[in-house]
Amino acid sequence: MFKINEECPSKHLRKLALALGGDFKEGVGASSLILDNENGKGYINLYELFPGIIVRTYNIELRDELVLSLTKNEFSPLYLIYCLEGSYRHRYESGSREKIVSEGRNLISLTSDLEEHTLTLPASVKLRISVIVLLREKLNVKANNSKGNVSSIMRDIVLKMEHGDSYRFIGGLKNPIGKHAKILIENRRTDLAGKLITESATYATLAAQLDDHDGLNGSAKHQDISDNELERVVHLCTYISKNIARPHTVKELAHKSGIYPRKLQEAFRYLFNQSVAECVKNMRLEKAKELLETTNIPISNVCDEVGLNSKSYFSKIFVEKYGMLPRDYRSSFEQSDWTFELTYKSKAKLYLSDTEVAELVKKSDRNNKIISVTGCLIHYGDDFFQLIEGPKKKVLELFDLIGEDSRHDEVEVLWKGPRKDRIFDDWGLILISDRKRFSNDDASKDLGIDMKTILNTDSKTAIKDLQFWQRIRDRIRVQVEG
Ligand SMILES: Cc1cc2nc3c(=O)[nH]c(=O)nc-3n(C[C@H](O)[C@H](O)[C@H](O)COP(=O)(O)O)c2cc1C
Repeated sequence: MFKINEECPSKHLRKLALALGGDFKEGVGASSLILDNENGKGYINLYELFPGIIVRTYNIELRDELVLSLTKNEFSPLYLIYCLEGSYRHRYESGSREKIVSEGRNLISLTSDLEEHTLTLPASVKLRISVIVLLREKLNVKANNSKGNVSSIMRDIVLKMEHGDSYRFIGGLKNPIGKHAKILIENRRTDLAGKLITESATYATLAAQLDDHDGLNGSAKHQDISDNELERVVHLCTYISKNIARPHTVKELAHKSGIYPRKLQEAFRYLFNQSVAECVKNMRLEKAKELLETTNIPISNVCDEVGLNSKSYFSKIFVEKYGMLPRDYRSSFEQSDWTFELTYKSKAKLYLSDTEVAELVKKSDRNNKIISVTGCLIHYGDDFFQLIEGPKKKVLELFDLIGEDSRHDEVEVLWKGPRKDRIFDDWGLILISDRKRFSNDDASKDLGIDMKTILNTDSKTAIKDLQFWQRIRDRIRVQVEG
């Protein structure tokens, strides 16, 4: 049984990755587990769209039954689950009211604060399921002082479905809910374009759900867009996100994709529920949000980097979308108890003796403790892998220093972003080395981790693989967390 804590949603996917194997990729606000082994085939994607909105999509066939326990928590989650293929079982802990939910059905579940419930994904069945989780308390806080569209849709949904106690509704997956749920489930991507597709499909699903709940069935518009055209639009989004600082016009994008401007607008409406211009604007905002979370660069530079040349316009559209000013969004991470994490890999320039490495770690441990940074350094052959975590400003300043250190080069950031919890809070810097000589001081304790197990291979080429290093980080994390 896997317990899912919706406060740290990526943690359960990481644990699942360890249990089931497969490739686990993690980015800002999105992660993905791809399985192609004896435990199953397919993928599970996770998106954290906004504080309080989480989406998980399961497009997978598992060898064994998987029981997901949705634990109670203070944020009173509301679950909207759409099943396009296969079936699953849903049960509240307090009773034996287990229900089978099959293909073409949706389930809305609202639990009281005290109630746990489980989702059982059956073995050997092809599943296509999407789960939208709304953390009501988090959304309500935002809704109080915001006119943002995100918050208002959520608030309406929550108000409509507010029943006090646990509440379960199972109904047919009608259009247009089904249409949007399909886009949600079939989106494999977790990059900027992928997040945007999921975000639009989520809001469209919720808006359609709201209409349906009101008895106002939205009518699905006739769409005459081929798969090839949709594919080209998705490629176009990748192009836009890679060139986000530049201006983009419908004319230019139509030329680039080879789709007539009117058709292009239609395809964007179909896929994103937005016009081309709105979609480009949202991609700029998404990128800006990411930069606010992961860097310290001044807000005017954020504007430039995302192709918005007016700071006041940027603030205006940011508030419209996210319900708060960019600087408040940034400081909400700084003021909260969230930590900032950065992982990178690099290569030692010269051979460093054990004494030199021990000296480096000892000094770093001391320095880090002073600035409230904690972390872990892996030294394997001539590769370094380091995770540092703590106040964002301190972590970024330290990383600037480390990046300039002449003892290593080829420094490549693997991940950076805010996290709910620290991993290595007991150590300023802990060393894990393949030289198997751990000193006994506080700075470098033997975690009892066998390097071979972490690396799971002797291959030098694998060590260069980004995903490989990400897996190492996750293994250490789970090992330390227990
Ligand atoms: C792979 C590697 C990891 C490092 N990690 C840290 C660290 O976590 N903390 C730290 O203060 N210095 C670290 N350093 C050293 C810094 O680059 C830099 O030398 C140090 O911060 C300067 O400290 P000082 O001004 O006290 O001499 C690291 C160096 C290397 C090569």
